[in-house]
Amino acid sequence: MTQNVTAAPTTGSPSAGEWWRDAVIYQVYPRSFADGNGDGMGDLPGITARLPYLRDLGVDAVWLSPFYASPQADAGYDVADYRAVDPVFGTLADADDLVRETHALGLRFIVDIVPNHCSDRHEWFQEALREGPGSAARDRFHFRAGRGADGALPPNDWESVFGGPAWTRVEDGQWYLHLFAAEQPDFNWDNQDVHDEFRSVLRFWLDLGVDGFRIDVAHGLVKAPGLPDIGHAEQVKLLGKQAVPYFDQDGVHEIYRDWRRILDAYGTGNGTERIAVAEAWTPTVERSALYLRRGELHQAFNFEYLTTGWDAAALRAVIDRSLAAMNAVDAPATWVLSNHDVVRHATRFADGDEVRGLRRARAATLLMLALPGSAYLYQGEELGLPEVTELPDEVRQDPAFFRGSGQDGTRDGCRVPLPWSGERPPFGFGPVEGGPSWLPQPDSWKDLSVAAQTGVPGSTLEFYRRALAVRRAHPALGAGRDIAWVPSPEGVLAFRRTTSAGSFVCTTNLSASPVTVPTPGTLLLASAHVVPGAGPDAAGTVLPADSTVWWAA
Ligand code: NOJ
Repeated sequence: MTQNVTAAPTTGSPSAGEWWRDAVIYQVYPRSFADGNGDGMGDLPGITARLPYLRDLGVDAVWLSPFYASPQADAGYDVADYRAVDPVFGTLADADDLVRETHALGLRFIVDIVPNHCSDRHEWFQEALREGPGSAARDRFHFRAGRGADGALPPNDWESVFGGPAWTRVEDGQWYLHLFAAEQPDFNWDNQDVHDEFRSVLRFWLDLGVDGFRIDVAHGLVKAPGLPDIGHAEQVKLLGKQAVPYFDQDGVHEIYRDWRRILDAYGTGNGTERIAVAEAWTPTVERSALYLRRGELHQAFNFEYLTTGWDAAALRAVIDRSLAAMNAVDAPATWVLSNHDVVRHATRFADGDEVRGLRRARAATLLMLALPGSAYLYQGEELGLPEVTELPDEVRQDPAFFRGSGQDGTRDGCRVPLPWSGERPPFGFGPVEGGPSWLPQPDSWKDLSVAAQTGVPGSTLEFYRRALAVRRAHPALGAGRDIAWVPSPEGVLAFRRTTSAGSFVCTTNLSASPVTVPTPGTLLLASAHVVPGAGPDAAGTVLPADSTVWWAA
């Protein structure tokens, strides 16, 4: 394996200059994508072998959730060594191969970086435990004395995002802060060692050739001075809706200005830019835009969009606010419907009816891919996979499930390994029919596998392929940062995008009944069966319930 900088590809995106502004980025969840060695857990060689599938799907970049050395207390978001690959996923040489192969296929490669916390097995935390109160090693984390006469109460009232107190007591009586599981101690970003270490970790992966980072808990690194109490115990329920002293503090921005200088030193034009996207659950898109001011990060996930239901007025409002907020800082808007932390959108939109869920999911995807900016896809959505809601307790691994009182702990249901082919589990996820998979797949997934959908007209997979191909080819889809709403009946969203090279209209009927609209142009693609111009009004088109249509217009 070598440490040379791998040249970033110059193809794979419609605008090679600033490839990230309109990139479609596909999230690979490594433990569930493809298992190369048959141990039931996905791995890096498995991903490398399947890269042609991603190229053919038509995405621009791949983002991998963490594959670093980790005890896997939070599926790899508890990192014990930021410069090593966990043996369950492979080796550093495998990572090097994967980056090179990804580039050879014209795709970009983005990795996760987890700077808010590490694993309790990280050597710094082990050292902090050994060295005791008052040591320099403890200052890299948030260690405090407890409250109450004998210090038996946590130092403040903060709750873990996964439920229960955000503090755990160690043998010598001090407590340490962990905003997530007890196995994930938070770093103290007032300590210079932490800054230096992450600069070095960034450079390590940039030297290996990665094109960017997805920053885990980007809003959490800086805590309010004095770690003040919040005053009530509804914190987890209200997360993202209220300001808290451990998230979205103004001090985080200085860190990202520093990181941007590092990224820019690796490339600033002609498709060579290395980028960073913030996972920042802020109360508003306007707060998210602060992370994207000049000299800070490139993108932030649009969680307000992700959490908006199947509702025309609500979607229109969040689209308008997102574009306004991002345009104000000259950053691309981003759009996302699913990831490894939320219920898959085919199930979220189902309201108890799977058929309706898939119909809406396809319509939602086509709407998302028509918007200006960059879109994130989560592995398996291109197969129309639903959430697996009936996993037995004994197979679950999400720490939120076991900590109980916090999140509902359903994140395992969107992490079930992908079905690739065959009649029996693990459906080609691993090399052996009937072999293991770390979470069981439903038998019904045989009909949803990549092989079962490939070449089948109307399948969700072929629909995604077509959508990505059209998005790449149509000039008015690849450019610009604004949309113009077209007047439309209640429950229908219609907007136009225009460039000098052409114009494009997207219509989405979010209502429960068909709606007839004037035919906007030539049909490019539809999420359901649509016959242009076949409405009761001769010049009109019937938009079926829960459908999106793309028009060249
Ligand atoms: C956000 C990640 O997406 C999630 O999976 C993880 O549990 C937390 N951050 C903590 O790292």
